[in-house]
Amino acid sequence: MDLTHRIVYAPLTRCRALTSVPVEMSVQYYRERATKGGLMIAEGTIVSENGFGYPCTPGIFTKEQVEGWKPIVKAVKEKGAFMFCQIWHCGRASHQHYQPNGEDPISCSDIPIKGQQCFSLKTMQMEDYPVPRALGKEELPKIVDQFRMAARNAIDAGFYGVEIHGANGYLLDSFMKDGINNRTDEYGGSIENRCRFPLEVVQAVCDEIGADRVGYRLSPFGGFLDAEDSHPYASVSYMIEELNRFGLAYVHCVEPRVKGNMDQEADPNYSLAPYKKICRTVFIAAGGYVPEDAADAIGSGSADLVAFGRRYLANPDFVKRIKLGAPLNEYDRSTFYTQGAEGYIDYPFLEDTEWGREHSSLLEGAKEG
Ligand SMILES: Cc1cc2nc3c(=O)[nH]c(=O)nc-3n(C[C@H](O)[C@H](O)[C@H](O)COP(=O)(O)O)c2cc1C
Repeated sequence: MDLTHRIVYAPLTRCRALTSVPVEMSVQYYRERATKGGLMIAEGTIVSENGFGYPCTPGIFTKEQVEGWKPIVKAVKEKGAFMFCQIWHCGRASHQHYQPNGEDPISCSDIPIKGQQCFSLKTMQMEDYPVPRALGKEELPKIVDQFRMAARNAIDAGFYGVEIHGANGYLLDSFMKDGINNRTDEYGGSIENRCRFPLEVVQAVCDEIGADRVGYRLSPFGGFLDAEDSHPYASVSYMIEELNRFGLAYVHCVEPRVKGNMDQEADPNYSLAPYKKICRTVFIAAGGYVPEDAADAIGSGSADLVAFGRRYLANPDFVKRIKLGAPLNEYDRSTFYTQGAEGYIDYPFLEDTEWGREHSSLLEGAKEG
């Protein structure tokens, strides 16, 4: 990839894919946010029928879903951006209502999520997460294969590559975290064992599409969906050392000041610095960044690229605004996960703001860039 700037569009679930197939409106959404030489990571995209855990999230395991992604990826490519598909299995962050035949969601163990609740499609309200079914070891190769196929499908849909979603307490992360993984077989216990299944997924995906088209996302801290680890430096450092052996396109880490989709008080003992130090590929930092501290992070070498989530979704011309030092639209949390155009494709462009009208000559000049 020949990137021309270091601003990354972070993976952002937007719940607009009504039937798990991306909708036409998403072509406009992604096209507007794509920039020449920029990296975009598409929203979490489900790898198999039992991977769902939220309403209206897209998949990449049926022909219709692959076809649905094609016009989006094409539009992004036409603007000169590079697009990765984030491939995702929700694991225990699901409910029987999302599962085929109302089965129990699957996880590395039978420990349910206690700290948060799940939106149920059936009752249309928040409910407790159910007790998941612990996967048998003999079932794991099938899931590895689902990730492999999802990666193949993503390439067929035109994506440049895939980001394996190993963060935020979902299936792969649940294996890594000792607060969730209580297995006694070779997939639990030691750090090596807890990283085994995620690494099997990485191996299969790299074999399928080539390591230079694969990224991996990690959230060492944060505790979203109760994903706690007693030794995040030891476990995630081991994981990154192992990932180094593959020669991935990038490793993507979430800052401790963010818990899933919101800010939290960061533990001052934690930072991404030790990971950046050992990572031998492009290192993306995400979480709570504004343009100013992102520039500092790049300048000081604590990240190679910075991914922006909430602020990027609220600004269709986000990169241009950063270049011009223009103010940003505020994001509206109430429309993050709604299904309509509101809060999706109606955030104003700079031209339509007071600042834009006052600085129209600057905007004229910026058109070329
Ligand atoms: C609406 C919304 C949806 C998100 N969906 C995903 C997702 O699908 N996959 C993922 O890894 N992270 C997801 N996240 C987390 C973001 O990628 C990012 O790490 C987080 O928002 C912190 O970055 P920010 O402070 O720049 O927003 C989501 C966050 C938000 C706000």
